[in-house]
Amino acid sequence: MSGLTTQANTFVNTKLPIGLQCEHLINPLGIDVQNPRLSWMIPDDRQGARQTAYRIIVGKDSMEVVKKRGACWDSGKSLSDSSLVSYHGKDLEPFTKYFWLVEVWDQYGKPAMPSKVSGFETGMMKKENWKGSWISDGNDINKREAPYFRKVFQPSKKIKSARAYIAVAGLYELYLNGNKVGNHRLDPMYTRFDKRNLYVSYDVTAQLQNGKNAIGVLLGNGWYNHQSIAVWNFDKAPWRGRPVFCLNLRITYSDGTTEVITSGEDWKTSNSPIVLNNIYTAEHYDARLEQPNWNRINFDDSKWAKVTLRKAPSDQIVSQAMQPIRNVEEIPAKSVKKFNDSTYVFDLGRNIAGVTKIRVNGEAGTVIRLKHGERLYPDGRVDLSNIDVYYRPKDNSDPFQTDIVTLSGKGTLEFMPKFNYKGFQYVEVTSSKPVSLTQESITGYFMHSDVAATGKISSSNPLIDRLWWATNNSYLSNLMGYPTDCPQREKNGWTGDGHFAVETGLFNFDGITIYEKWLADHRDEQRSDGVLPDIIPTGGWGYGTANGTDWTSTIAIIPWNIYLFYGDSKLLADSYGSIKKYVDYVGKISPLGLTTYGRGDWVPVKSPSSLEYTSSVYYYVDVVILAKAARMFGKQADYSTYSKLAEKIRQAINDKYFNREKCIYASGVQTELSMALQWGIVPDEFKTKLAEQLAKRVEADGMHLDVGVLGAKAILNALSDNGQAETAYRLAAQDTYPSWGWWIVNGATTLYENWDIKAARDISLNHMMFGEIGGWLFKGLGGIHPDEQYPGFKNVLLRPNFVSGLAYFEAEHDGPFGKIVSSWKRSGNSVIYAVTVPANSRATITFPFINGEKVYENNKPLPGKIEVDAGQYEFIIKNK
Ligand code: BGC
Repeated sequence: MSGLTTQANTFVNTKLPIGLQCEHLINPLGIDVQNPRLSWMIPDDRQGARQTAYRIIVGKDSMEVVKKRGACWDSGKSLSDSSLVSYHGKDLEPFTKYFWLVEVWDQYGKPAMPSKVSGFETGMMKKENWKGSWISDGNDINKREAPYFRKVFQPSKKIKSARAYIAVAGLYELYLNGNKVGNHRLDPMYTRFDKRNLYVSYDVTAQLQNGKNAIGVLLGNGWYNHQSIAVWNFDKAPWRGRPVFCLNLRITYSDGTTEVITSGEDWKTSNSPIVLNNIYTAEHYDARLEQPNWNRINFDDSKWAKVTLRKAPSDQIVSQAMQPIRNVEEIPAKSVKKFNDSTYVFDLGRNIAGVTKIRVNGEAGTVIRLKHGERLYPDGRVDLSNIDVYYRPKDNSDPFQTDIVTLSGKGTLEFMPKFNYKGFQYVEVTSSKPVSLTQESITGYFMHSDVAATGKISSSNPLIDRLWWATNNSYLSNLMGYPTDCPQREKNGWTGDGHFAVETGLFNFDGITIYEKWLADHRDEQRSDGVLPDIIPTGGWGYGTANGTDWTSTIAIIPWNIYLFYGDSKLLADSYGSIKKYVDYVGKISPLGLTTYGRGDWVPVKSPSSLEYTSSVYYYVDVVILAKAARMFGKQADYSTYSKLAEKIRQAINDKYFNREKCIYASGVQTELSMALQWGIVPDEFKTKLAEQLAKRVEADGMHLDVGVLGAKAILNALSDNGQAETAYRLAAQDTYPSWGWWIVNGATTLYENWDIKAARDISLNHMMFGEIGGWLFKGLGGIHPDEQYPGFKNVLLRPNFVSGLAYFEAEHDGPFGKIVSSWKRSGNSVIYAVTVPANSRATITFPFINGEKVYENNKPLPGKIEVDAGQYEFIIKNK
């Protein structure tokens, strides 16, 4: 059926706006900005559905807001199609719940029903609003036990509502009357603790009771007090200290008055049964030290010690306005192998980041060790040799990725670490005395920042589908409030790995809040001369010599991609000064436009690429982003300076590295050819030819990859964007060494760090640095691209490639306007191409002309490129 005819539609749109978010979160608490971003979607599937105006109403009284009376802000009817608008009403007050709704008018000027009321609540807003003291147990940083804290209080009147605000350097679990507050894990997220600390807000109304109440806090070390030693000197971080927290429990009584229960000198502290906790290695628990009901009112704490008051760890105490880490997926053990009555190996059937829970019964004093790894030795026992290589233990009391549990003999113990996570598939359980375990004794929990899924791929090639799934598994395994390189060996926020993965991440997950937080970490880490460290956050490691453009370009590339995917320029604006400082630094050390400031094409198959060439390309990328941002923000002088600089760099690269006769870059290896295409270095008139050269190079390399991380980011796009989609697909679907598929056919459920599965080093089995393929599937096969002119998929660029190796392919992405679908299947000699363009957005469809195929619609030829409004369309493409 043709979707190209527009029918005048007369019925009134009854589809109210949905998906209301504030600061990209649903009904958030702890909003501390004066102009929070409000956004919505229109679920209107009529063809051409469009918003022509909106009106936002914000107030403190939800009933008033429903009546469209906005005491705080009434935007008035604004003739705009924007669905991402910053609040511009009365000054927001701290600790206040605001309600809002939005009304929209459609393409005929008709109003839709107003949205349901949504809300957001402000938090502290100002540091001065914190009350009470930061407290710790006053122990030495080397003390291993995790401390408990408690306090009992009695509210003076009847409670109407209550909020807990907890700021922590280290990790925490908060309890009220014996129950854990919330379901976050490893809170708060890692920041440079001496520059910025995060606090978390909870609605705890339902957890308080009339009469006495007990508050309990358990603190873990996290990255704040890193006790174990690894090559990156985590233990030498300048901020290192015994974990410390500040709690404000703010109670609003039914008479409207408030009272704040705070952390302070009247609290008490004691050791907990957690006798060791390292986020990097493991957690040890001695059940004999349990103190039942330690967090309930009637517990006798007379033997507990006094607390120590401390000053705030930094000047910035900032709300953690982001998706938290959770135990997102529960994974039962797939099998267990019993070696003898004190040795078992469990297999989860897939590699994850997270923890295990064990349920076990045994005599008091029995010591159980749970060793987590990604590989097995030939004898079936767990092998850590691919991931413990950078760990530098002083003794054997803290083995890598090995929880140690001592039983109390009082019934079944359920243990799951609170302050650690690991990367693993297998768990070897050994016990000092015989224990009886079954497959159900162990459960795995996949932990990661709990971002919503926004992408889906399905195709006629199971290898491609599996690869997409494995890529997402690695992306999520490496999303812990900041992107990491791997969940086991390092847990480092390697900058390069972060930006290589950003498009895959954003096609598949709603990651904006994590990236906004990570770029704030960047700003905290940037030296005054503009230099950024390799790993962010860092306790000091990473300001060495290889922290150059190919890695630390995160500062420009991440905000730019957030802009492209969300149409939200806030992060780019917030990062502008840092990008400029960074670019200026590179300019200072590279006055001629070429730079060797970088690491190079890391973990290549065989051929190295020129370091000066690859680093200069990334320098160019940053300067281009800076120039574009300058233009966007009306900074004319910067725009002129940096667009000229960009041209100078591009020229310098082409002068030195482009051989026009041969049409190759540098020595002509895959990475070098790919990067010139991917990053806009090659002069336009040579693009097609260069892509042909690249395709030939790939063929000469046996239709296999010969790239490291920089080439892996570029090669598939370089081919499919320039007429060589067939070769791109053959590389993507290749299943012999070296290829992504080679990992999959060898059983991978995540992406690896090395093309060579048997390599001697760099062989983590859960790395995201080669993960661009997951994003490429959306772009190179589905053809879904953001449009820089109309970012946030306001206009969707659709350029599908109907590659001959596939019978069908479907890509779906939930963008800011709703679900975009690009799907094609072969039918006889034709390809049927179906697309969905969500309301209030448009698309530009470019049909591929491969082998003389033309695009026909109802037997009439279509132009190569067409513009469509929101709606669903189907096209039949065939030879005539
Ligand atoms: C990490 C990488 C990182 C690289 C840089 C490795 O140890 O795991 O992913 O980007 O170092 O050299």
